[in-house]
Amino acid sequence: MSENNPFPNEKNTGHIWDETLRELQNDPPGWWRIGFHASWIFCIAYFVLYPSIPSLDGYTKGTLGWTAVSEYKEDLAAIDEVRSKWEKQINDPNMTAAMIIADDELRNYTVRSAKVIFGDFCSACHGSGGAGISSLSADQSGYPVLADDDWLYGGTVEQIQTTLTNGRRGIMPNYGARLTTEETADLAQHIVALSEGSEHEAGKAVFMDPTKGGCFACHGMDAKGIAALGSANLTDAIWRFDVKGGDQRLASVTHTIVHGVNSELIDPASRNAVMPAFGPLGKDLPTGTLKKLAVYVHQLGGGK
Ligand code: HEC
Ligand code: HEC
Repeated sequence: MSENNPFPNEKNTGHIWDETLRELQNDPPGWWRIGFHASWIFCIAYFVLYPSIPSLDGYTKGTLGWTAVSEYKEDLAAIDEVRSKWEKQINDPNMTAAMIIADDELRNYTVRSAKVIFGDFCSACHGSGGAGISSLSADQSGYPVLADDDWLYGGTVEQIQTTLTNGRRGIMPNYGARLTTEETADLAQHIVALSEGSEHEAGKAVFMDPTKGGCFACHGMDAKGIAALGSANLTDAIWRFDVKGGDQRLASVTHTIVHGVNSELIDPASRNAVMPAFGPLGKDLPTGTLKKLAVYVHQLGGGK
C-alpha cells in the first residue's frame, strides 16, 4: 500500500496497491440507486396497504382491507357468475344436447363439468372416461366401452340420452333347450368366424333358420346388430361377453347362446347386463345433468 496518493484528483480511499489496483469512492451507478430507493418505498407502501406485521393480538390489517379469504370469495363469485350463465342455457328446456354440442364454448364447459358427474355415477361400471374395465371379475356381467364408436343402442347424442334416461336391458333368450349340442357348436364357431371376417357354413344355416336359431331376427341378416334392440354386432372383434378371450372365446360364446342375456328369470346362468335408468324412473337425475352426460359420452370419441 502506498503512503503518497499518486492520484490526487480522484476520489479514492487511499488504499492503493499499484497503478491498476486501488479502492475508489465513486457513486454507485444511477440504475442501482433508482432500484434501491424504489425497493424501500415499495416495502413501506406494501406494509401500509396490506396486512403485514404480526402482533400479539393479530396483525396490522393494512389500509386496503385485503384478505386472502376475501380474494378467494371474489374469485369464486366470478366463476359462479360465468357458470350460472352456462348452467342456465343448459337447463333451458329448449336447449337440446345436439345444440350444446354445436356451441364450442358451451360444449367445452359441459364436457368439463360432466366429467366429475360421470366419475360419480358411471365409472364404477364403465371405467374412468368410459374406457371400460379391463379386470372384469369372473361374474358374467359385461359393461360396454363408451369411448369407442361401437354402439349397441346407437351413438347419436339423442340415442345416448335415451339410454341414460330410461336405462337399457338387451334381452336374448336362452337357446340351451332349443338347439342340439351340435347345432350350438356350429353356431358358436360361426359367431367366432364372423368376428374374424369369415363364416362357418353349418353354423350360418342355423343362424338363418327361423325354426332353429332365428338369430337374424334380432342380430340382422348381416349379423351387424339392430340398435333398436341393442343386439350386439357379431361381425366385429368387440365382445360384450368374453371375460377370458383367446382360446376360451368359443366356450364364452357358447355360454351366451345356451343361457341367453338378461334372461335370468328363465335361466339362472344367463348373462347379466343391465344399464340402470338415470331419469325419473331411476336415479332421477335432473334433465340438465342427463343432457350433460349425454354430451360427455358423445364426445368421448365415438359419438355419431
Ligand atoms: C350398474 C352398472 C352401470 C352403471 C352404474 C352405468 N351403466 Fe351404462 N351400461 C351398463 C350396462 C350393463 C350396459 C349395457 C346394457 C346392455 O347390454 O343392454 C350399459 C350401457 C350403456 C350405454 C349404451 C352403450 C351402447 O353401446 O349403446 C351408455 C351410453 C351408457 N351405458 C352410459 C352410462 C352412463 C353415462 C352412466 C352414468 C350416468 C352409466 N352408463 C352407468 C351398466 C352400467
Ligand atoms: C330376441 C333377440 C335376440 C335373439 C333372437 C338373439 N339374440 Fe343374441 N343378443 C341379443 C342382444 C340384445 C344381445 C346383446 C345383449 C347386451 O349386450 O346386453 C345379444 C348378444 C349376443 C352375443 C354376445 C356378443 C358379444 O359381443 O359378446 C352373441 C354371441 C349372440 N347374441 C348370439 C346369438 C345367436 C347365435 C343367436 C341365435 C341362436 C342369437 N344371438 C339370438 C338379442 C338376441
